[in-house]
This record gives sequence, C-alpha cells and structure tokens, in this order.
Amino acid sequence: MATLGFIGSGNIGTALARLAIAAGIDVVLSNSRGPQTLAETVAGLGERARAATPEEAARAGDWVVVSVPLAACRKLPAAALAGKVVLDTINYYPMRDGHFEVLDSGKTTTSELVQEHLAGAKLVKAFNNINDHHIPVLARPAGAADRAALPIAGNDPQAKAGVADLISRLGFDTVDAGPLAESWRFEPETDPYVAPYFTDPDTPRATWVKLREAIRTGAPLETPPSDDPGTALPAARLRTLLAETPRKLTADRVLA
Ligand SMILES: NC(=O)c1ccc[n+]([C@@H]2O[C@H](COP(=O)([O-])OP(=O)(O)OC[C@H]3O[C@@H](n4cnc5c(N)ncnc54)[C@H](OP(=O)(O)O)[C@@H]3O)[C@@H](O)[C@H]2O)c1
Repeated sequence: MATLGFIGSGNIGTALARLAIAAGIDVVLSNSRGPQTLAETVAGLGERARAATPEEAARAGDWVVVSVPLAACRKLPAAALAGKVVLDTINYYPMRDGHFEVLDSGKTTTSELVQEHLAGAKLVKAFNNINDHHIPVLARPAGAADRAALPIAGNDPQAKAGVADLISRLGFDTVDAGPLAESWRFEPETDPYVAPYFTDPDTPRATWVKLREAIRTGAPLETPPSDDPGTALPAARLRTLLAETPRKLTADRVLA
C-alpha cells in the first residue's frame, strides 16, 4: 500500500490528495495549525485520508509533497524528510514571501533553495507551473489522447523517474527539464508557466496585470477565473517552451 504525505494542504495539496486517492494511494495531510484543523478536509476525502503533524506526514510518505509558501520552507522538518523523495510545488512571490536576494539576482532557483534546507532529501520540482483548478480538470488516464504534460526537475535521476511514475498515476505525462539548476525554466511567468494550460493563454497575464494594479491601488482583488476548462499541453510543445523560454527574474515579472 503506497502513501503520499503532504506538508501543506491548501489549494495544491488537496487537489493532489484527491487525485492520489482516486489512484488508490493513501494520503497523510498536514499544515501549520495542527491535524484537528484538517478534520473537514479529511472527512471530504474519505477513508484513505488522515491528518497528522508535518513530521508524521513526512515519515509516513513513500513520497512527500511540500506545498507551502516559500517563506515557510525553513520550517520544513528536514530530519524527517531525510532520504525521502520530495515533490516541491513551491513558487517564489516576493509580495507574499519577502525578498530573497539569491532569487532576485538569479544566483539560484527556488527549488535549489528548498533543497539546501532539505539537504538529505531527494527533491523533485513538480506541479508548480499549473493552476490548482486545472489539476482535477486536466488529469487523464495514461494513454489518453488529451493528456497534459507537466515539467519536472531534480538532481537525482532515480527520484525523478519515481516521481514521473507517480505523476502518471495521478493523471499527467511529464517532461524532464533537467537538474534543479534548470528549474527556472518553469518558474513564474516563464513560457511554460500556467498560461499554456488555459484555453486562452492570454488570460493569466491579464489577471496578473489586474492583480498588480489592485495591489498598488488598494482596489478589490479580482481572483483568477477558476472555471476555465483548460488545454492539454502536449509533451512536445512543453519541451519547446522549456527550451526557448527566457529567464524571468523578479524585476522582469508582472506580478512579484
Ligand atoms: N494555488 C496555485 O494555483 C498554485 C499553483 C502552483 C504552485 N503553487 C505554489 O504551491 C505552494 C502552495 O500553494 P497553495 O495555493 O496550495 O497555498 P495555500 O492554499 O495557501 O496552502 C498553503 C498550505 O501550507 C501550509 N503551511 C504554511 N506554513 C506551513 C508550515 N510552516 N508547516 C506546514 N504547513 C504550512 C498551510 O497551512 P495553514 O493554513 O495551517 O498555515 C496550508 O495548508 C505555494 O508555494 C504556491 O506558490 C500554487
């Protein structure tokens, strides 16, 4: 019986937990406020789900999804995650996370920073370039003609192959974007980031511009559309986007 642990059980964590359960995988969810605050989520997911502390979720998982704001990455339980294959969904948003000079300057990537803290873990960046609402609507069984592809990056080839298998069980093809040092290729606002999974790829950029203006002016925030049916980005197209995208450092981004 396989178990997927979660540190962070918000939009992305719960979307992935649902897919895991549908694939016959048990899930152990955790967050910062304690297992009791996840009772309703666990009840909604059914008997394959339970809640625990981050340390317990880390120890229970055959793989562990880390899906927290970047600012919380230093609080991740490094000892409990040592030796584990960790799926890192984290993106860097300075307006939420505060500024990290090494990321603003491009000296390193978000996932290398997380890997540095989780030195004993085998980190694979995954599921960071797709909006949470597209995860359930685009998941398809292996071999489906309209199956979407997601990029992964990591320094340990065996861990990366295992994660590709897991992601296939969850409903997506994968494209290997290389080691963590190359994972900037699908960080926020690069070409493979979020937009190519939208029916109209201009939608996210328009939303980012509106969000930026709302943050500047204090106007009410308009949330991104969550009813878009999505587009199944094929692996070949994703490979091209990964190869050709320019790097987007904080200063080059619409929303940072
Ligand atoms: N939403 C998206 O569409 C999307 C897409 C791709 C990638 N991402 C990235 O994935 C990550 C998660 O995004 P999200 O939208 O799922 O965020 P979210 O809904 O805000 O959920 C964040 C989760 O992290 C938990 N958390 C925060 N600090 C923690 C800590 N120190 N220890 C354990 N758990 C902690 C929160 O628990 P509490 O509520 O108890 O604090 C919550 O369960 C972010 O880095 C985000 O940028 C998001």
